[in-house]
Amino acid sequence: MSEIIIKTPEQIDGIRKSCQLAAQTLDFAAQFVYAGVSTAFIDEKIEKFIVSHGAIPATKGYNGYPKSSCISLNEVVCHGIPSERNILKEGDILNIDITTILNGYYGDTSRMFTIGSVTPVAEKLIDVTKHCLELGIQQVIPENYFGNIGFAINRFAKAKGFSVVYEFCGHGVGVHFHEEPQVDHAARRNSGPKMKPGMIFTIEPMINQGKAGTKVDKLDGWTARSVDNKLSAQFEHTVLVTQTGYEVLTDIHNEYRAT
Ligand code: MF3
Ligand code: CO
Ligand code: CO
Repeated sequence: MSEIIIKTPEQIDGIRKSCQLAAQTLDFAAQFVYAGVSTAFIDEKIEKFIVSHGAIPATKGYNGYPKSSCISLNEVVCHGIPSERNILKEGDILNIDITTILNGYYGDTSRMFTIGSVTPVAEKLIDVTKHCLELGIQQVIPENYFGNIGFAINRFAKAKGFSVVYEFCGHGVGVHFHEEPQVDHAARRNSGPKMKPGMIFTIEPMINQGKAGTKVDKLDGWTARSVDNKLSAQFEHTVLVTQTGYEVLTDIHNEYRAT
């Protein structure tokens, strides 16, 4: 059993810098997200930006994954592989997920984008998913249980008529890409390990319009779609447990005041 790493102040500084670069890369990518562009083109821009800042895209070559980002369109829950064949069109919703390795430290973040005007249900799904991440982050307090993150997220998503993906989870991050613990987005109250200052992990709820289940593409072995092909949305931040609460390390827009 590997343990949850408590990061040193030096590691926290390094991880914070990588997290900021990952978030800056999402900001940079935004200018290329419009109708008619392929997701492979956006991925190329992302790769160049990361490399030009002295970092490495963590996904490239990770367990054989071929690209520098994940770009998940519409019914794709996560791990969409950027492709020349995926051309963005009016009404699409998409998640871009970026993980950087800077000076050996990992930062992981993702957010949703929309192409032109999208349906009211797509808009609601995106809003609810963003709020799910906020509710999860509010549970980050020393001595609180990891399960309370998933409890808060699941309760809200269900109340809004959506379902929480349980087959993919958040994770410890920073020294490695995927560390302990697994951060479930649907969980029982007061279950799992307790949060301690110096822990760093992602919260990355994937919320489905329809059923919670997913299926992985048999041909590429990566692309995870909702089982009923209805829409799915996701937001992800990397979060540090502080002495008194949290610091959202990938929050370069100051949406979250450290607590
Ligand atoms: N960035 C994803 C996460 O949030 C992981 C992508 S792994 C890949 O954990 F291999 F699919 F790229
Ligand atoms: Co992640
Ligand atoms: Co990610």
